[in-house]
Amino acid sequence: MTSKICVCQHKTCRKQRSTEVLAAFQQHLPDGVVVEGSGCLGQCGNGPMVLMLPEKVWYCRVLPDEVPAMVQRHVMQGQPLPALLYRKFHLVNGTP
Ligand code: FES
Repeated sequence: MTSKICVCQHKTCRKQRSTEVLAAFQQHLPDGVVVEGSGCLGQCGNGPMVLMLPEKVWYCRVLPDEVPAMVQRHVMQGQPLPALLYRKFHLVNGTP
């Protein structure tokens, strides 16, 4: 179960609307889960990068409009969204 969501707020991700992504998570977050703007997550150019903890599931190129579905599916139901998973760290079939 996700307890913390990190949304990169460093330069490159900010240019790709990560501030809006962070705000969207803050609006849709369920009780018991924290979201925080993080420093660079080391994956610049693939942002906005989002890291779900403690399970270490990475999402890339997240758009603000996609956040409600991420909260509903990943955070509430425990089902990753394969289309948004960061392929560098996760297999194509969505398995971390
Ligand atoms: S700026 Fe976001 S991963 Fe580096």
